Order: sequence, then structure tokens, then C-alpha cells
Amino acid sequence: MSEQPMVAVRDLKVRFKRGGQTLSAVNGVSLEVAKGEVLALIGESGSGKSVTLRALMRLHSERSTRIEGQIEIAGQDLMALSRSQLQALRGPVAAMIFQEPLLALDPVYTIGQQIIEALRRHLPLSKAEARSQALEALRRVRIPSPEQRLDAYPHEMSGGMRQRAMIALALACQPQILLADEPTTALDATVQIQILILLRELQQALGLSIIFVTHDIGAAVEVADRVAVMYGGRIVEQARLAELLDNPQHPYTKVLLGTRPKDGLRKGERMISIPGAPPDLANLPAGCTFAPRCPQATDLCRSTVPAIESVIADHRVSCHHWQHVSVQSLCESMS
Ligand SMILES: Nc1ncnc2c1ncn2[C@@H]1O[C@H](COP(=O)(O)OP(=O)(O)O)[C@@H](O)[C@H]1O
Ligand SMILES: [Mg+2]
Repeated sequence: MSEQPMVAVRDLKVRFKRGGQTLSAVNGVSLEVAKGEVLALIGESGSGKSVTLRALMRLHSERSTRIEGQIEIAGQDLMALSRSQLQALRGPVAAMIFQEPLLALDPVYTIGQQIIEALRRHLPLSKAEARSQALEALRRVRIPSPEQRLDAYPHEMSGGMRQRAMIALALACQPQILLADEPTTALDATVQIQILILLRELQQALGLSIIFVTHDIGAAVEVADRVAVMYGGRIVEQARLAELLDNPQHPYTKVLLGTRPKDGLRKGERMISIPGAPPDLANLPAGCTFAPRCPQATDLCRSTVPAIESVIADHRVSCHHWQHVSVQSLCESMS
């Protein structure tokens, strides 16, 4: 990557203290997102995707969470920022959208009031100026009759419209990076595809960088330039989308891709259920986190964490045996 990346994360670790236990939810994640690039972060439920995303915005409670590593967003060192500096960054530099708009939107204020408030928190705008910018924000996400929607409450909108309103709110202050946590997972298939298309269009029109978190490989394929596959709090493989689809190297990636619907996105499409359980985060395996479920694991896999190796430029994999594992034998042993 020649230009300075919009997001650069190095060796990110996130641990939660809970009771007498320490849960290692993120275990050394490194990733970069270029300006105007969409990175999809995929993996099964519990693999640490949301925790990673929240850590990028430093949203975890400082009291019960330990974060290590480096996080740079738009050239700023997130680990060094004060609370007020972080607040100044959330909105104009980096914004977040979630699976459930009702958690992001306040039920007692209209959509317009919420967007206006967000705008005026960061920009020196009069009420009238902010209102006209809020209207523009609703137009941008193609909400029908935006003038009326401005004065609507979240509960007066359909799920798809609420999701558009949340995107409008997130983009109101013109962030450079959008962190999207399963924003289409709760929607019907047709609405889901509309929102994915909208995100892609906005991303291109605004030159946004996006980290798009999903457990749905079909959604990732619709929007991603590059894909990072997460398992047990680590990125086990990352590559450009076409390269990952054509030439997956990690056994876990191969299993995930084996579950991809051939005829596009379908409602309720889920990743395959792999035999065995996800790793116990209170007691991580000594070696590769996927080893207990990997049909090709050896003693080396069980004892030593694999290094991150380059397959080709911009395609990295973390598996001791990536050069030896065949897709065919893997899928056969899984079925
Ligand atoms: N605040 C928290 N305290 C303790 N454990 C947490 C917390 N947030 C998430 N976890 C745990 O961290 C792991 C990763 O969670 P998460 O990142 O939400 O997974 P996903 O990939 O499904 O988004 C899960 O086991 C989850 O229970
Ligand atoms: Mg999640």
C-alpha cells in the first residue's frame, strides 16, 4: 500500500476480566484499510469481529478491558488520544453502524433531531443550516419523502428505512471511515441487498473506507474489495476478494467458502456448522486456535501458533500447512 492507510492496526489484543477469569477475545489482529477501500471482516459468531471493531473506536469500558497494540485511524494514534479527543473523532473521522438501528437511534427524538444534534455537536451550524444538511443526509441514503421522514420517530419507520436513517446519521458529519457491524444481518433478503447496494454506492460517491463485519459470506462478496477471515480472535487469512475466492489457503477459509450459495444472497444463509466448538477464550489452545477443529491438524499445529506468511502480495495466511492442504480432501472430511 503506497498511500498512508486510513486504518492501520498492529497486533491488537483485547482481553476482558470477568469474575476471576480473563477472556482473550482478540489475540493479535493486524490489518490495514486503504482510503476508499472496503474490507470485510468475516467469521463465525464469537470469533471477535465486534470486539475488534469496538476496540478501533475505543468503545470498550476501560475498567474491565485491556487493550494492547497499535491503532491508527486517519493518521491519529487512537491509543494516545484523550476521552475528549476520541469524542471529537467519532463522527467526523470514524462512524459506526450496527445490526440493530433501534440501539443506535434514540426512540424519543425524531430522526431529524438526532441528525441535527450530531451535526451541531461537531460543526458550527445554525439550526436552519443543520436542518438542511440533515435533509441532504436523508436524501443521500434515498429515503422517500425525506422532508416528512425528518420529523418521524424511529418506531414509525420500517426496518429498512431505520437502517437507512442510521446510515444517514453515521454519515452526517462526513466521516472518512465507516465501521459497519452486521448492518444487514437482521433484514429481509430484498432489503438486505438494497442496503448493500446503497452502502457500495455511498462508499464510491464519498470515497469512504469501510470495515464491514459479517458472518454472512454472501454479504461480504457483495461489498468487499478485500476480505479478512477471523477465527478465535485472530485473522487467519486475508486477501483481495477475487484472490480469496479463487485461491483460499487456510482450512477454515476453505470450509467457509464451501458454504457460499452459488446463486447469490439468500435469506438466512449461514456459514456451515463445522464439527466441534469454538475455542474457549478463557483457555486458548497453545497452538493454532483452529487446530482442535481442523481435520488436518498435526502436533505442530497443536503446540505452536503459526506465523503469518505471504502467499502472494496482499494475500496472507496463518497456517503451518497452507502449502499442503487440499480443498477437496478437506471438504470430504468435513461432510
Ligand atoms: N464486554 C465483554 N465482556 C466479556 N466478554 C465479551 C465482551 N464482549 C464480547 N465478549 C466475548 O468476546 C467474544 C467475541 O465476541 P464478539 O466480538 O462479539 O464476536 P462476533 O465475532 O460474533 O462479533 C465472545 O466470546 C464474547 O462473548
Ligand atoms: Mg458481532
